[in-house]
Amino acid sequence: MKILVTGGTGYIGSHTVVELQSKGYEVIIVDNLSNSSIEVLDNIAKITGKKPLFENFDLTDPLKTASFFAKHSDICAIIHFAAFKAVGESVDLPLKYYRNNLVSLMNILQGMIDNGIANIVFSSSCTVYGQPESLPAREDTPIQKAASPYGNTKQISEEIITDTSSGFNIHAILLRYFNPIGAHESAIIGELPLGVPNCLMPYITQTAIGIRPFLRVWGNDYSTPDGTAIRDYIHVVDLAKAHVIAVERLTGHKSEKKVEVFNLGTGNGFSVLEVIQSFERMSGVKLNYEIKERRPGDIEQVWADTEFANLTLGWKAEKTLDEMTVSAWKWEKALAEKK
Ligand code: NAD
Ligand code: WQD
Repeated sequence: MKILVTGGTGYIGSHTVVELQSKGYEVIIVDNLSNSSIEVLDNIAKITGKKPLFENFDLTDPLKTASFFAKHSDICAIIHFAAFKAVGESVDLPLKYYRNNLVSLMNILQGMIDNGIANIVFSSSCTVYGQPESLPAREDTPIQKAASPYGNTKQISEEIITDTSSGFNIHAILLRYFNPIGAHESAIIGELPLGVPNCLMPYITQTAIGIRPFLRVWGNDYSTPDGTAIRDYIHVVDLAKAHVIAVERLTGHKSEKKVEVFNLGTGNGFSVLEVIQSFERMSGVKLNYEIKERRPGDIEQVWADTEFANLTLGWKAEKTLDEMTVSAWKWEKALAEKK
């Protein structure tokens, strides 16, 4: 079975390609390398023994996307990761985000319609829940007005997919990721943040390795046990495995509705200080950090209700926070050795 993975040289995409290939799927990646490197293809091959097929073009280009699909109409399912994801940048450059994230999705859906491709798995985000009134967040927890253009592209994308599926033979699984961290156990692939990271885990590992002088902990006056904000961190390999199961569900005609939504988290919330403590314990490195004011736009706490994914998808995140911080640290050290 041939699976198209858009954004397959990126962070979550590359880990998913590894899982797909190890289950025997033939993978074709489309990526314009706007936020990833061509070397990822060789790195995937080092892990799986097989280099995925690859085409480098921008999915916002309607003609290139249409001719790609005409050439590859034997694709069984698409996993659509390709998108811009920097929340802060999306506030400064909203059109860049709306254009890239929405136009590429629409071009893909058009290609599916024109070539009879029925199955798509879409990367959504827990950001659609904002700060939920009650926790944990369930799939039917009300969606809140997006706090950023990036978040809005995820909400609008979910609607575009839902509307398109209702009139055409398109079946979709929308996966709402909580906070993916960590790297493949081989430390051959992982997250490659460009410039100064925004996200907690790469900031921690870059501080520990000496790239950043100290970590700023954004706020310790939240209504949480230690005052720092709580998130549901999920190991990227657990996340990747859920995509294989979603593809199997679609191609095996096991979906109960044309569009299904699943939360992908562990169901456990950890505070910023708990993540730091896990990192220090597992790496043996004392982290230099300072408490600062809250970061604008941050929510206080969120974690997933995972029951629906556990029971219906038959998937459960397995890796602990300690395993996540260990793998992130191993990856950061591997990157340092390459320099
Ligand atoms: P990433 O930036 O590492 O990967 C995205 C890939 O898509 C990159 O390789 C980039 O070059 C490619 N790309 C972007 N626009 C493209 C275009 N127009 N045409 C072709 N290729 C294009 O990001 P990631 O962390 O792997 O995220 C994957 C998906 O998951 C994204 O849709 C993101 O919004 C979503 N998501 C990520 C997180 C997270 O914290 N990482 C959380 C929730 C949802
Ligand atoms: C986690 C916690 C920070 C950095 C973002 C996007 C979201 C989703 C996942 C795509 C927060 C704190 C962080 C630092 C800190 N992406 N922190 N110091 O904000 O939950 O979610 O990534 O869909 O849309 O918004 O993740 O890793 O940035 O922050 O104290 O230097 O760590 O305040 O409490 P976030 P994050």
